[in-house]
Amino acid sequence: MTQQMRQETGSELTDPIAQHPAYGVTESRIALWGHPLHAMTVAFPVALTFCTFGADALHLLSGDEFWARAGVWAAGTAFLFGLAAAVTGTMELLMVRGIRIRAPAWTHAVIAVLLLALLGANWGYRMQGYEAAVLPYGILLSGFNVLVVSATGWHGGKLVFDYRLGTSKGS
Ligand code: HEM
Repeated sequence: MTQQMRQETGSELTDPIAQHPAYGVTESRIALWGHPLHAMTVAFPVALTFCTFGADALHLLSGDEFWARAGVWAAGTAFLFGLAAAVTGTMELLMVRGIRIRAPAWTHAVIAVLLLALLGANWGYRMQGYEAAVLPYGILLSGFNVLVVSATGWHGGKLVFDYRLGTSKGS
């Protein structure tokens, strides 16, 4: 039975996106000397989101005001570096046809925008008094943000390792 016959009889399901002419056009365009900028920028918000939770936990355990101040800095830089990651990710999403046509790339963008809103909220909330903000809502928000950043990073990794989005074709 030929491929066309299988499709006509419905005995095989095919992904319509796989028929798209831009299906294989997935090479990163937002890159420096071939190194994708999104992959370089995402490390900072991921690490700083974990640092915010770590600082909050240390403040809870020690009562030291230093950790509350460290927390407000970590929360602010997580948000600002998150914005930078979102700029490079959005450019890649919109400019690379093979990325733009895939639904999982848009799913990642939606999760990432939720993450940015939460990172911004965590920073803004601490502006009204960073020490008082830690317990209970600051640390709860930081813990939740660790879960959301993990989901975002894991999902981004799937785009790269499963779909090979934003990679170089190599030689
Ligand atoms: C609206 C914002 C964002 C968009 C549109 C976006 C889009 C993308 C796309 C298209 C990829 C596939 C690789 C590439 O083309 O570069 C990717 C990978 C990835 N994204 Fe995002 N992204 C956004 C924000 C974020 C944020 C805020 C984080 C984490 C804090 C993040 C974490 C990742 C990770 C870890 C990868 C895998 C990178 C690798 O292993 O090379 N993304 N993203």
